[in-house]
Amino acid sequence: MQDALSPILVTGGAGYVGAHLVRHLRSRNCDVVVVDDLSNGRRPRLPDDVPVYETCIGRVDEITRILRKHRCRTVVHLAASKSVAESVRDPLVHYRNNLSNSVALLEACTAADIRQFLFASSAAVYGDVPGGIVTEDANPLPKSPYGISKKMFEDVLQSSVEHYGMTYAILRLFNVAGRGAFMAHEDIAGSEPSLLDALAACRVRAGNTDKIEFQILGNDYDTEDGTCERDLIHIDDVTEAFWRSLLHIAETGKNLVVNCGSGTSRSVKQIVHRFRDRHAPSITPVYAPRRNGDIAKICADISAFKHATGWEPVHSELDKILVSISEPS
Ligand SMILES: NC(=O)c1ccc[n+]([C@@H]2O[C@H](COP(=O)([O-])OP(=O)(O)OC[C@H]3O[C@@H](n4cnc5c(N)ncnc54)[C@H](O)[C@@H]3O)[C@@H](O)[C@H]2O)c1
Repeated sequence: MQDALSPILVTGGAGYVGAHLVRHLRSRNCDVVVVDDLSNGRRPRLPDDVPVYETCIGRVDEITRILRKHRCRTVVHLAASKSVAESVRDPLVHYRNNLSNSVALLEACTAADIRQFLFASSAAVYGDVPGGIVTEDANPLPKSPYGISKKMFEDVLQSSVEHYGMTYAILRLFNVAGRGAFMAHEDIAGSEPSLLDALAACRVRAGNTDKIEFQILGNDYDTEDGTCERDLIHIDDVTEAFWRSLLHIAETGKNLVVNCGSGTSRSVKQIVHRFRDRHAPSITPVYAPRRNGDIAKICADISAFKHATGWEPVHSELDKILVSISEPS
């Protein structure tokens, strides 16, 4: 089935998810090409022999040329602005990148006769859901421009690509965590780090002796311990989920819209305390005000994805994820 999928162009392939996915696709004998403007990606994350084009996905003619040159059959679309806080501060930047540039990418895909298109969407499309556990048919009410931009592009994709003979998969990613050894020494905390990147960075700053405070953002949510609850999924489960989805759409010709999480939620307090107890005794958790755009609780119902593809998470137990940010393998 690789023949029907490969070569694959990965947009945002030098980013966190992308760098792991490129390696995974190559381990499945696929040829991979990357387009990344390196606004948040790093070339050294990728093996030297992967062709990388440092450009914006919004350049229709250039992307069409790249797709044709490499005879790509499939596009995995990861390139995006992903900071929820930034999207609240400056929504138009997110709409341009996550919507306008994505539409331009799709135009290039139709011009280059791409057969399969996989879009990395987000759990942020859902917003607050009663009970916090979401199935794919939940009414989407995104709370941030980031979530809205992801939902808008889902709609564009679903309402257009069938006209061009393309099959799509939309994976709504929950909180992706953990990292491979090739990123072990990187500081990827950035301006708005994920919870686990912030924990890993805090541990490094603390060294072995000093005390260092770690801020938990909000302890007055309507959850069991008052802190947000999240569904963490290990990056190795995510890359396999992408692969299974690609196989599924290529084999069946049917589109797929699925949640990609672990199916279990943990509170931020629980995660931070467990990390402190097992890996970073110098960290002292403290409470700070809520962050704009954050949802109280969200957890994926993954039964539809399991049923359609046979995929299931096998690396996403909390302790395994915490070990992977302390001692990446
Ligand atoms: N990491 C998560 O927990 C998570 C959760 C839900 C959804 N997602 C989605 O998965 C995708 C990948 O996330 P990530 O964590 O790897 O993010 P990332 O920021 O590490 O990677 C995104 C990559 O896209 C590149 N990029 C951005 N805009 C571009 C453009 N216009 N043209 C070319 N390249 C561009 C960046 O340089 C970066 O390398 C994103 O679409 C994100 O919204 C991620």
